[in-house]
Amino acid sequence: MRITVLGCGALGQLWLCALTKMGHDVQGWLKVFAPHFRFQVVSTEQDSFSHTLSVNDSQKLQQCELLLVTLKAQQLPSGLLPLIPLLPKECPIILMHNGLGVVDDLPQLTQPLCHAVTTQAAYRTPTATFHKAWGFTQLGPLNSAAASLSNLAEILHQALPDVAWYDDIKTSAWKKLAVNAVINPLTVKYHCQNGQLMDVLSEVTLLCREIALVMNREGIHTDDSQLFESVVNVIQATAGNYSSMLQDIQAQRSTEIDYITGYLLKRARCFGLNLPQHSALYQWVKQQESDYASDTLRTTLPSSW
Ligand code: NAP
Ligand code: PAF
Repeated sequence: MRITVLGCGALGQLWLCALTKMGHDVQGWLKVFAPHFRFQVVSTEQDSFSHTLSVNDSQKLQQCELLLVTLKAQQLPSGLLPLIPLLPKECPIILMHNGLGVVDDLPQLTQPLCHAVTTQAAYRTPTATFHKAWGFTQLGPLNSAAASLSNLAEILHQALPDVAWYDDIKTSAWKKLAVNAVINPLTVKYHCQNGQLMDVLSEVTLLCREIALVMNREGIHTDDSQLFESVVNVIQATAGNYSSMLQDIQAQRSTEIDYITGYLLKRARCFGLNLPQHSALYQWVKQQESDYASDTLRTTLPSSW
């Protein structure tokens, strides 16, 4: 299958590696043009796979049979939109990212559009990407053109199991958002590994209660204790990890907060709900982001400013 992977970071390289190994005709799409892209992925068993790919080939994009988008939520509209005019009308697009609300920022697309929610775990260093833990990828349709594309789950499953098709991908995405909306900003607030959140379970309880209110109004059947249990399971399973949001803060990058807590608060407002705990965490993370944004501005402005 002719596949383009847009966003060749940690998750993108994991998929580039898996799809290349399966014999698919894969190219990467980078922010900045380069004649080719060399990557190295180290598996959970410490086996290393290095490969050089063609990148940003518009002709290949025009013949593409699948566009897999592994950008961060906030990078997605500006990264994806310039590619749309070149992409065949029938080429499925899979958006694989954490958070929700990205499609609200996109125009209506004619291409079949899917969302993938994954618990695969990978991180990258300047020299390699490390597959840290095997996870589960749930794939489902975001528009009617994608409703009958369940065969895509099988193709992805062959490359990087497990992958399964979910007609109701909205519920899967909300459940993942619930986990991220608790763990990610709390680890920023306490500047800690995920496991240390076991010391602030009363806060976890309050956050889960607020999320359950919104999810119920979204028509998703859940309650505080179910959410609490799934959040605590992830805290324990990833105890030694630094969350992606804390890593972004430490590297002074913009975070996915607007598509995680920000989206939760946006939906709460639509239902007339007030979420004081999440609002406070949202402000906390935005404050950290604006602190380093103004630091950067200060250090890049001439001293007369
Ligand atoms: P990442 O390593 O930062 O990858 C994003 C990549 O996209 C980077 O290489 C970035 O380049 C590139 N990019 C940014 N703007 C672009 C543009 N306009 N055109 C082309 N490329 C562009 O992030 P990630 O960890 O792979 O995560 C991707 C998404 O998957 C996130 O939503 C994340 O929450 C989710 N996720 C990740 C994991 C994981 O284990 N990594 C697991 C589950 C879900 P620069 O770095 O040069 O900006
Ligand atoms: O964003 C992250 O870091 C991860 O999705 C999770 C599950 C919170 C584990 O660190």
